Formats: sequence, C-alpha cells, structure tokens
Amino acid sequence: MGRTAAFCLAEENVVDNLVLFAREDSLAKIEGESLDMYDAMAAKDISIKIESSCSKENLHDSDIVVITAGIPRDAGMSRSDIAIPNARIVAEYSRLVAEYSPNSIILVVTNPVDVMTYVALKASGFDRNKVFGLGNHLDSLRLRNMLAKHFNIHVSEIHTRVIGEHGDHMVPLVSSTSIGGMLLKNYALDGTIDMEGMVKKVINAGSYVIDKKGSTEFGPAYAIANIITTILNDEKKILTVSAYLDGEIEDIKDVCLGVPVKLGINGIERIVPIKMSDNEIDAFKSAAEYVKKETDIVMKTLK
Ligand code: 2OP
Repeated sequence: MGRTAAFCLAEENVVDNLVLFAREDSLAKIEGESLDMYDAMAAKDISIKIESSCSKENLHDSDIVVITAGIPRDAGMSRSDIAIPNARIVAEYSRLVAEYSPNSIILVVTNPVDVMTYVALKASGFDRNKVFGLGNHLDSLRLRNMLAKHFNIHVSEIHTRVIGEHGDHMVPLVSSTSIGGMLLKNYALDGTIDMEGMVKKVINAGSYVIDKKGSTEFGPAYAIANIITTILNDEKKILTVSAYLDGEIEDIKDVCLGVPVKLGINGIERIVPIKMSDNEIDAFKSAAEYVKKETDIVMKTLK
C-alpha cells in the first residue's frame, strides 16, 4: 500500500521529492516501482523526483515520513494479531526518523494504527502534534460512501466522522452527521437507516477487502494522500487522525485515538473538542480503555 500512496501523492503533484524507503531485500522492487511511476508522471507533465533507497542517510531532512512498514493482516487476522512484531518495526523506523529528520512529521499507517502511533510518538521523542496515525479518516470515508449510496446522494453532500479505534471499537458520530447540511436525524425522518448495520460494515470493510483481494490499497492510499496534501498545502482542514490525547476529549489521557484535528503545515494545530451523545461518549470511553490496554501490553514488550 505504501507504493500506491506514493503514486497518489505523485499524481496529486503536491510533493517535489518522494523517497520510497525499504529494507535492502526489497530495494530492487521499489526501484522498479519508482521508475514505473516516473513514466506515468511524464504522461501527466508532472516533474517530480522519485527515489528508492534503503540507506538511512536518504531519510535526511524529510518534511513528512509515512510509516507503512510492518506485517500486513492476512485474511482472518485482527489488527491486534500483528501488534507486537509491528511495534518493533515502527519503533526502529521512528528512532531513525528522529535521528535523520528531527523536524519531520510522522504519519503512521502500520496497524494496529492507534497503538503504533503511540509507539512512534514515544520512540521518536517528537512533540505530539508531529506524530499521528491514518486510522479513522479512512473509516470516515467509508461511512461517507455508504451513506451516499444509501440515500443516493452525491458523496460531497455527506459530512460524517468516525472516531475512536481504527478497529472494532470505532465510533461513528451519528449525532453530528449531516446530509446536505441537514442533521441526519432531520433528514432520515422515516427512520429507514440501519446505522448499526452500516457501522458493522465499516468496521469489517478492511477485512472484507482483504478477504477478496489480499490487502486494502486504494482506500488507504488516497486517505494518506488527503492527509499529506492537507499538511503540505497548510489547508487547516479538520480530519480524523489517531492522535495522542491529554484530556482534550472526555478527559481521556495517555492514549492515541481517532479524533478530529485541525491539520496544517505544522501538523496537528488543535484537537477539536466534540459534543457527543451519551451513547457516543460511552463508546468512545470503551474504545479508549481497549486501546490503552493494548498499548500497555505492546509497550511492555518494547522495554
Ligand atoms: C484498512 O482498514 C489498512 O487498516 C487499513 O484498510
């Protein structure tokens, strides 16, 4: 998925220099990927430098580092099944980034992304506005799609957000979902929407695609490109990323969870406080409890 995200970014024409970074045994493959991407850029009149490397020196002075490295989920595996091996990989890369690109932003994609974001934050020693994870932005896009299909409305008219865990404990903010600027509860007056069923589909969306094609690719890739474009263009959009909480929402602390943040050139400018329904608050607190427990287990293995 890292290569697809790189291609999306090249296509968006928002970056001058892309470095595909991998272990030495994957160097030939990523060199082929970068050359293949160059050909496509020529067709689009995009001038961009695309490099492939396995030497840490090439991490030098990066603006943003996207960490997708790790063991991917196989069909039937949960994101937590890969937490401990992936934590070691993410910690190692985060320390490298801290050494070679101390002023960069780290976007974590490796799953389980909320736990991995916490690992990257601690291993890099970066400020918490500089380290965040892909997480629920992708889930929010999926829910948006499902609502658009359900109501047969253009996807741009749907504003919804999923917060919490990028996993079974994700929390759709139904209370602040709007269709064409009208709150869902004022729109779906005849109660035809099975929100619970829809949320179950969002929770299982990743696994469903993995069962069909072996991995998710285009969804995460474009979600990553959304986030990076927002940062590099200093767009100050409010996107949902996995961020380190220190009491901003429901006084939850010392855990990384999907929350709405204002994103700009310096990373997270602000965690946006949200008013939730009682059910949403309960679900968000359960997500925090679950992710914190998972995080503590993983952090103990890194000591
Ligand atoms: C997904 O849900 C990769 O976890 C990511 O597609």
